[in-house]
Amino acid sequence: MERRKGRRLVVFPLPLQGHISPMLQLAGILHSKGFSITIIHTNFNSPNPSHYPNFTFHSIPDGLSESEIEASASDIVLLLKLLNAKCVEPFSDCLVKLLSDASEDPISCLISDAIFYFTRAVADTLKLPRIVLRTGGVSSFLAFAAFPLLRERGYLPIQDSQLEKPVEELPPLKVKDLPVINTDDPNAFYEVVAGLVNETKASSGVIWNSYEDLEHSALVTLRQEFPIPIFPIGPFHKYSSPSSSSSLLTQDQSSISWLDKQAPKSVIYASFGSIAGLNEAEFLEIAWGLANSKQPFLWVVRPGLVLRGSEWLEPLPSGFLETLNGRGHIIKWAPQQDVLAHPAVGAFWTHNGWNSTLESICEEVPMICMPCFSDQKVNSKYVSDVWKVGLQLESGVKREEIERTIRRLMVEKEGEDIRDRISELKEKANLCLQQGGTSRKSLDSLVTHISKLES
Ligand code: UDX
Repeated sequence: MERRKGRRLVVFPLPLQGHISPMLQLAGILHSKGFSITIIHTNFNSPNPSHYPNFTFHSIPDGLSESEIEASASDIVLLLKLLNAKCVEPFSDCLVKLLSDASEDPISCLISDAIFYFTRAVADTLKLPRIVLRTGGVSSFLAFAAFPLLRERGYLPIQDSQLEKPVEELPPLKVKDLPVINTDDPNAFYEVVAGLVNETKASSGVIWNSYEDLEHSALVTLRQEFPIPIFPIGPFHKYSSPSSSSSLLTQDQSSISWLDKQAPKSVIYASFGSIAGLNEAEFLEIAWGLANSKQPFLWVVRPGLVLRGSEWLEPLPSGFLETLNGRGHIIKWAPQQDVLAHPAVGAFWTHNGWNSTLESICEEVPMICMPCFSDQKVNSKYVSDVWKVGLQLESGVKREEIERTIRRLMVEKEGEDIRDRISELKEKANLCLQQGGTSRKSLDSLVTHISKLES
C-alpha cells in the first residue's frame, strides 16, 4: 500500500536554554502552518510538556551521570561531545518506534539542532529526510566553517600575541573575535565544530533564526559554500507574543514591577545568558561599574554565574545594595523578552548570545557587548562594528571602563546615533516578518520544501 504523505515533524532540540527556546518557537511556527509536532527530548534539561498542549513529547534517557553533568557545567565542549555519543541509541530507538506507529500521521522529516550532528547517520539509516536548525547567526557559522583553513593558516589555536591581527579571510574579524571555547580538550572542540559544519552540509536544508536584511552578505556567502536549501525565517520570537514557557529557570516577575517605577530609557539591563561564567574579580568590577554609573540597573545574577564556590551574591561587599537606595535590582533570572520591551530599559549589557542579540535588536535596545566564548565573540563584533548598534568594553572588564561605556551609550551623542541605527534594524525585522517579507517568503518555501521531501 502506498504511504500517505505525512504532515508530522519530529523535532529534536539540544538541551540548552539558548537552543531549546528557538527550537520550540520554530515548532510553534510550523504547527501554525498545519504540521503536527512530535518533540524528542533528553531527560537532561527537559522542557515542560504541560506548557505545550499542542505538541507530543517523548523523553529519551541521555545517559549522563551526575559527575558528567557536574564536569560539563564548566566545560560545554564536554557536554556536547557526551550528548552526541550517548544519545545515539536511545534517539534511534525512539525514532524507530515513532516511524512504525501506524496510529499517528506519517513523519515528513526530522528537524534536528545542527549541533546534534550524530542525527545525520541515524536519519540516513532510517531513510528519513533531515533538516537542521542552526540556532546561532550565519556570520558566526561561516567562521566555524572556516576552522580547517584557519588552522592551516595558523590563526588557530589562538596565540595571545596575535589577538589584534585581522583575519583576512573573514573580515571584519580579528583573531580575538574567532568563536573559540576554553576547554580541557581542544581536539574535542574541533571535532564538535567539524560535526556541526559537515553534517549541516549533508542535510536536506538549514533553517536560520536570522533575517536577510540583518545578515545579507553572510547569507550570500553561505549559499555559495553550502549548496543546500537555506531558510532564514527569523526572528522566530516575533511570530507570536512573548512566552516564558520554554524557560528552564523561573523568571522573577519582580523585575517588571521594579521597572515600572523607573524613568523611560534610564535602566541598564545586565544579563549574561544561561552558560557564561565570571570570576570573582570580574563580578566585583561589574558590580562597582554599575553602582558608579549612577544609572538604575536590573542585573541577572544566575546562581553559578560566579565560578568556583559562590552560591549567589556572597562576593558582594556587605551593604552594597543598601548603599544604592533602590537604584539597583538583582535577580536570579528575568522574563528577558518582557524586560527588553519595557519602556524603562535604555541599554542591554549582554554576552551576545544569539537569542539575546536578536531580542535586543527587536526591542531596539542598544547593547554593551561582553562576549565570553564561541559565537558570542562574532556576534559582538557584528553588533559593534558592522551594524553599529552597540559598544564593546574596549579596555576590559574594569569599573572605570564600564562607567565610561555606559555614559557613551546612555548620555552622549554617540548613544543617540546607535539608538537610531538599532531602530532601523528593528524596522527591517518587522518588514521581513510581514506578508511578502523575506522571512515570510522563506517560511513558505520551507513548507513547500518539506512537503516535497521523500522519505
Ligand atoms: C547559548 C550560547 O551561550 C550562545 O552563544 C548561543 O548563541 C546560544 O546558546 P545562552 O548563553 O543561553 O546561549 O544565550 P542566548 O542565546 O542569549 O539565550 C538566552 C535565552 O535565555 C534568551 O532567549 C533569553 O531571553 C533567556 N533569558 C536569559 C531569560 O529568559 N532570562 C534571563 O534572565 C536571561
